[in-house]
Amino acid sequence: MDMQKTISELEKQLQRKSIEMDSIQHIGRALSSELRLERLLMLVIEEVNKLMDAERGTFYIVDQEKGELWSKVAQKAEILEIRLKIGVGIAGHVAKTGDVINIPDAYKDDRFNPAIDKKTGYKTRSILCMPIFEASNDTSKERNIIGVLQVLNKRNGVFEKNDEELLASMASQIAISLNNSVLYSKLERKVNELNLLFDTERELNKAYTLEELLNILIEKITETIRVEAALITLRDPKTHEFSRRVVKNLDREKVDKLTFSGKSGIVGKVVQTGEVYYSNDAGNDPLFKKEFGKKIGLDIKQVACVPLKIDDNVIGILEIFNKSDKNDYFSTDDMRLLSSLASQISRTIETFQLREEKIKADRLSAIGNMMSTIVHDLRTPMNNIYGFVDLLQEEDDQETRKDYADIVIQQIKFLTNMTTDVLDFAKGKSSILPVKCAVNKILDDFSRFFEADVKKKGYLFESACNTASMIYVDPEKIQRIFMNIMKNALEAMDPGGKFSIVANKEKDNVLFLLSDNGSGIPDEIKETLFDSFVTSGKKGGTGLGLAIVKKLIEEQKGRIEVESEVNKGTTFKIYFPRLN
Ligand SMILES: Nc1ncnc2c1ncn2[C@@H]1O[C@H](COP(=O)(O)OP(=O)(O)OP(=O)(O)O)[C@@H](O)[C@H]1O
Ligand SMILES: [Mg+2]
Repeated sequence: MDMQKTISELEKQLQRKSIEMDSIQHIGRALSSELRLERLLMLVIEEVNKLMDAERGTFYIVDQEKGELWSKVAQKAEILEIRLKIGVGIAGHVAKTGDVINIPDAYKDDRFNPAIDKKTGYKTRSILCMPIFEASNDTSKERNIIGVLQVLNKRNGVFEKNDEELLASMASQIAISLNNSVLYSKLERKVNELNLLFDTERELNKAYTLEELLNILIEKITETIRVEAALITLRDPKTHEFSRRVVKNLDREKVDKLTFSGKSGIVGKVVQTGEVYYSNDAGNDPLFKKEFGKKIGLDIKQVACVPLKIDDNVIGILEIFNKSDKNDYFSTDDMRLLSSLASQISRTIETFQLREEKIKADRLSAIGNMMSTIVHDLRTPMNNIYGFVDLLQEEDDQETRKDYADIVIQQIKFLTNMTTDVLDFAKGKSSILPVKCAVNKILDDFSRFFEADVKKKGYLFESACNTASMIYVDPEKIQRIFMNIMKNALEAMDPGGKFSIVANKEKDNVLFLLSDNGSGIPDEIKETLFDSFVTSGKKGGTGLGLAIVKKLIEEQKGRIEVESEVNKGTTFKIYFPRLN
């Protein structure tokens, strides 16, 4: 009878052992395939409860940096997060000391904190709590505690020695998985960081202005570090004032009202030390100015501030506020990422500032250039006005007088527009205003303005339009082009010589031929004819005329060629794509 009892007892034990073995194997397999920390937590708890025959189980991750234990537990449909301080309560005690704690009656133990029971309405009886040490092959080093495994209320009786052994063997399984999981999260984070750096580099090439670029950067930062709001403030490279700002999730108007000395508070410290500064409890940080949060309309709990530096100069400040997840906090990992981002951002900003300065400088020198071309081209219409005013004085016929006066007005308009061009250019606007133009209208205008004057000076003037085509050009610029070429032609001829202007259809283009039968272009300047300051054989020539011509033509998608023979004459050929 006794024998019988012992055998059935043994059989039961055997059965139980085999279930345990199965379960441990199952956990081992499941754990090794689960890399995400949160899923891992849930999985462990489920299996541990089954195996230990416990009512409840909790698996805490120990966060040494923050001095906390945290866990997630599934409660009905909700997922709750629990956080404890290291050293507080049973689990906190285990996380601190690394001891195994096995208590049959919690309420008789001083370390037990009944507050949680009170809150949840649960009645804790027995507790078994076990540390999880970092998995490592190096036995000489003391291993860190990375987790705590806790089970409550053994269903039948209390936790025994063999329960401790079972839980210990699970703890070592879990340690390996946890290690993998942490490695995995780190790897995942690294991949994200690299992606971010790569993305930023790529966006940089797309951004056209510094503002655009900063907006892209701030977007990426808030996304990667997962914060509620961010602010970048840049120092003007000339005045050294902190002025240029971009914001994310902050009221730009409010932020713009801030004056920013860069001398006190967190920012002051960062500017002075050139180092990252952060606080996870801004409210109690003596450096943090409470009015700051009020002014920008944000309840700031966490703040991190990093200098943007070029060499040792602080060119700006990047501030980020409040982790999006309220249980999250700024970690040293975050700061490392923030620092590497900051140096990338600084380099990028430097490139842009240099680019902006260069554009400004280029524009200034270009304005100078443009001024000289305008001054150059003012002379011809000016002379023309003189000519027509002369004619006006002698003319009695009312109709003809009106025509002359119209031309004078046109030429004055033309002069005014040329000066407007310079101003537009200074503002960065293109001075070319292309419209659809009928070729014959262009030639008609040109003849109307200049034929009389040319003839009056004793030259022949001919014009012919052999096409009904349209071209897409700025008509005033076309007049300037023709004017310069005609002026050269007249200067190369003696009175009696003939200037002609003809328009033909030529394949996809309209071809303008501007010819004279003058002295021809000297061989020595043929190669460089269209360069600035190339002049030959005339008093007071600046050598700018044809340089202007070429530039104006190319800005309107045309091209120019020249054929010339000494003592026979010269023909300039100008092509513009035709629209019909
Ligand atoms: N139709 C032409 N016949 C002969 N030589 C020409 C002709 N057009 C230009 N050239 C030569 O090309 C040179 C450059 O012309 P460009 O209009 O650029 O300057 P410029 O006429 O000398 O000076 P500016 O236009 O300021 O009066 C002229 O000095 C002249 O020697
Ligand atoms: Mg000229």
